[in-house]
Amino acid sequence: MAMRKKTKRAKAKPAGSKSARRVVTLKAKKPKAAQPRPSSKPQGEAGRALDGVRILDFTHVQSGPTCTQLLAYMGADVIKVERPGIGDITRGQLRDVKGADSLYFTMLNGSKRSITIDSKHAKGRDVLDRLVKACDVLVENFAPGALDRTGLTWEHIHKLNPRMIVASVKGFGPGPYEDCKVYENVAQCAGGAASTTGFRDGPPLVTGAQIGDTGTGLHLALGIVAALYQRNRTGRGQKVLCAMQDGVLNLARVKLRDQQRLTHGPLTEYSQYGEGVPFGLATPRAGNDSGGGQPGWILKCKGWESDPDAYVYFITQAPVWGAICDVIGKPEWKTDPDYATPPARLPRLRKIFDTIEQWTMSKTKFEVMDICNGQDIPVGPILSMKELAEEPSLRATGTVVEVDHPTRGPYLTVGNPIKLSDSPADVRRSPLLGEHTDEVLRVVLRYSDKEISEIKASGALSAPEKKAEAA
Ligand code: COA
Repeated sequence: MAMRKKTKRAKAKPAGSKSARRVVTLKAKKPKAAQPRPSSKPQGEAGRALDGVRILDFTHVQSGPTCTQLLAYMGADVIKVERPGIGDITRGQLRDVKGADSLYFTMLNGSKRSITIDSKHAKGRDVLDRLVKACDVLVENFAPGALDRTGLTWEHIHKLNPRMIVASVKGFGPGPYEDCKVYENVAQCAGGAASTTGFRDGPPLVTGAQIGDTGTGLHLALGIVAALYQRNRTGRGQKVLCAMQDGVLNLARVKLRDQQRLTHGPLTEYSQYGEGVPFGLATPRAGNDSGGGQPGWILKCKGWESDPDAYVYFITQAPVWGAICDVIGKPEWKTDPDYATPPARLPRLRKIFDTIEQWTMSKTKFEVMDICNGQDIPVGPILSMKELAEEPSLRATGTVVEVDHPTRGPYLTVGNPIKLSDSPADVRRSPLLGEHTDEVLRVVLRYSDKEISEIKASGALSAPEKKAEAA
């Protein structure tokens, strides 16, 4: 929108005089943003999206690391600060190879650098202050209050570096639970996912997808990128907060939609409606019902007796109802008034899916996939993790990547699920504990050799037993 500026009148002029009537409007000049010329390099050869962004990574476990790993894949220089001797607790959790970093750690910390600093040691805090000045974003997911206890309060950080963005994951936002520690499943339960997952006659269920941790990490990454973009205009950083409860609720928003619909009558697409089971006061668990307007269910396929994943998700999408009837050998349903329209089908979904299942049980899930997709009928095979790990197309797109590790050997990780045509994903192995301590001190923080020796001698970079030896 063009800005208009009116000139102030310096002195009152006699009414009716020419100069008194004259109001000059000036068009304010819009400052030209310094935009680079479009690169002449082919797409994918002009660096990465977040080249030049340096992240001070205080994250641990899953929610925070998944965020910073994504930013690292996009080109950010992520420097992970870890406790000397111990590191991120997940390095040693669920270990499958003796003495090597676990897959829990390696799959969440790829493409990062690791520096060990005791953030409660006076000299360690000096190093951290220097890092604050050298970085663009600080990311943390400590328990509430832990970052402040290390002295890295927002005020302190901002005094050192007003451009710094401080991004945090917490379990809950401000409110009665803000001081609580939270893990994945707590967030799934507190964010509405568990109460709406599972079968109606069973207990609430958590899902295998880590919507509390990785889901919130994704939300945080978006917040960070937005804050970086705004900083280009304002020149200053800001706080970015993602509460895991909020992130899960955002992902479960269709269930809040259903909660409100309930006040206007039963949820007709839920199978309990067709089964004549009355609804209660809250959105119920819906088993494998589709969350949208096109009814769906998980159906057995050939081999289901011995293969736990021989199933397919089948959607009775209205526009292809005729094709479904032909495929399953029920052409008469196309014109039968009990089946021909979506509203007529709603109370009969159980019978419809039982009938379709008689057909899917005669085919493998991949045969069902081939036949149905040939007719534009939306279906999805239930793919096991084994099948996904071996799927060539996921390797080809870089969604599943094999990287080599010095102590554990090759392992699979999930690459960048977000494909940028001009920013190829940078997927590298996770760092060993403190692997880059010297490099960061020397190259990023520009400490001299003498200063580095002094810092080391102070014990700020070493584990407690080494400190005792040094004393
Ligand atoms: N040097 C010295 N101390 C360090 C350190 C370092 N480099 N890195 C961490 N620490 C300290 C912290 O300062 C903290 O100290 P304090 O509480 O004694 O002051 C301590 O280690 C433990 O941190 P904390 O975050 O409380 O870890 P925890 O293992 O007790 O709790 C969580 C783990 C995940 C429950 C908790 O961090 C949390 O609720 N985080 C927010 C929500 C979240 O992200 N949850 C998902 C995790 S996947």
